[in-house]
Amino acid sequence: MEKSKPPQLYKQYFIDKNDERKTLFEKLVKLFPIKKGIYPGSFVHITPSFFIPEMTYIDADKRISKFFEETTLLSYIEENKHYKESPSVRGIQADYSTNLPIEKASFDIMFSFYAGFISQSCKNFLKKNAILVCNNSHGDASLAAIDPDYKLIGVITFNDQEYQISQEELTSFFIKKDGSSIDKEKVKRTMTGEKFTKTPYAYIFQRY
Ligand SMILES: C[S@@+](CC[C@H](N)C(=O)[O-])C[C@H]1O[C@@H](n2cnc3c(N)ncnc32)[C@H](O)[C@@H]1O
Repeated sequence: MEKSKPPQLYKQYFIDKNDERKTLFEKLVKLFPIKKGIYPGSFVHITPSFFIPEMTYIDADKRISKFFEETTLLSYIEENKHYKESPSVRGIQADYSTNLPIEKASFDIMFSFYAGFISQSCKNFLKKNAILVCNNSHGDASLAAIDPDYKLIGVITFNDQEYQISQEELTSFFIKKDGSSIDKEKVKRTMTGEKFTKTPYAYIFQRY
């Protein structure tokens, strides 16, 4: 049977830019028991669905309604998935900081990449002990680091086109170059992450 073509926006923004991040999601599902994930500010970054059977994507961009309605999307994911179950994919066009009709405390993992303060707005979607994978591009990792609802349990590095997860020497992260503590109000005001002595690609937190 002929293979499905990648959805056009996914091809344009992720495949053609060599930014699918497949090995990142592959390594996460090997390490943690993840069946159900949520990705606020995802745009059309559907790579998690190749590794996680049940995914909810949320983005304010108007283009995502049509993208997630395309019938060819599911067949493309079906052909590229690495699990036995049938994929479940939900795309919601909305502002993730509003009150959304999404089940609380029900997700095993949440992703926060380049899209604002998801660790704060969407915290309640995570189950107890669930995982938050978060980068510091807009300061979301800086906020999660000082949030008592989260505990740092790992970091993700990206070198030579390879993602690696490390769960060692975690106390050496989130140390500012000038030795001061994280300025929460400044991070919120500027939407810029604090500058730390070590800068991994992303951080892995566990929700208390
Ligand atoms: C730079 S893109 C990042 C996309 C994807 N997370 C990635 O890693 O490639 C930021 C996306 O976040 C979305 N976004 C930002 N703030 C949002 C909000 N409050 N609610 C929903 N989507 C939001 C934008 O519409 C945009 O598609």
